[in-house]
Amino acid sequence: MTFRPRYTGLIDRYRDRLPIHDDTRIISLGEGNTPLIRLNNIPSQLGKDVDIYVKYEGLNPTGSFKDRGMCMAVTKAVEEGSKAIICASTGNTSAAAAAYAARAGVTAFVLIPEGKIALGKLAQAMIHGAVVIQIKGNFDEGMQLVKDVAEEAPVTIVNSINPFRLQGQKTAAFEILEELGAAPDYHCIPVGNAGNITAHWMGYKEYHEHGIVNSLPKMVGYQASGAAPFMRGEMVDNPETVATAIRIGHPQSWDKAWVVNKESQGWFDECSDEEILAAQKLLTSQEGIFCEPASATSLAGAMRDIKSGKIEEGSKIVCTLTGHGLKDPDTAIKQCEGDDGMITVDATLEQVKKAILDNMS
Ligand code: F0G
Repeated sequence: MTFRPRYTGLIDRYRDRLPIHDDTRIISLGEGNTPLIRLNNIPSQLGKDVDIYVKYEGLNPTGSFKDRGMCMAVTKAVEEGSKAIICASTGNTSAAAAAYAARAGVTAFVLIPEGKIALGKLAQAMIHGAVVIQIKGNFDEGMQLVKDVAEEAPVTIVNSINPFRLQGQKTAAFEILEELGAAPDYHCIPVGNAGNITAHWMGYKEYHEHGIVNSLPKMVGYQASGAAPFMRGEMVDNPETVATAIRIGHPQSWDKAWVVNKESQGWFDECSDEEILAAQKLLTSQEGIFCEPASATSLAGAMRDIKSGKIEEGSKIVCTLTGHGLKDPDTAIKQCEGDDGMITVDATLEQVKKAILDNMS
């Protein structure tokens, strides 16, 4: 039996690659080190010889990749003496901000679009004790308000325009490279504000420039059709999609993401809400992996590009699953309406036995 040192989060693990001092007080919940799961069933169902891995970021402490960036943003805010943090959010950033603020003993203010964030995320922000400010507007309006109010009140912005967020998030690329020993051919990722695609590219390039690996992936960013400014080539004023996490029309990392697109020779594309939900269900029912709708956008797009041959046979593909399925139970349950998965019977042996025998496959 060999004992492993206790995993204490990504700042400790990648201390040498992050802007941290020896005496910095680290605010961590053990984030990072998420599983890279090889899909067993979906590739053969596509009838293509491809190797697909999913990076299950839903297994971070608050259930999304935001924890990678938030541990850094809150650590640095506290180091700089800040007593309060603020963000606009479609849900996951607010959940992470609330949790890390609680851990650090500072106040979190979160602006969310009224009625448009998934239930689990709202529960998280509230139970961790954030001040939740619902606005009668969308994420993009909330983001502008956050920028404006931070000029007038002593609060640190922890949205991805905070450069420490991207520093933390780049570690996901490090983990992938360490496990695969080389870059995948394609990295497929859902895009909202485009912070995460930018952060991944930073991580890939850093290991490449330091000679740790000698390959780079093509970065492929997928958006929901109703919220696809990168496909339209301009900002979208009234974004709409079932994937509320990426219901964003004015991405904050617009220029940076176009640079990623160009440098990595990747592309952007869009997926309809139907394609997104179908991919979410396929992943849960065929692979046992439950991600939230926005996360399934990466697989939805990848499957389409694999089928069409744009992603060639023989490719190794990583799809980021950005958030856990439990974040949005309402959409999951709605997806199953009309299925015969739930049966109500009398509490008798006879009825239960019948329910089983009738449904054996
Ligand atoms: N997937 C999920 C589950 C998200 O929550 C987000 C962003 C994205 C993808 C897109 O990442 O913005 O870096 O391109 N959520 C933010 C939030 C906006 O407020 O939680 P991005």
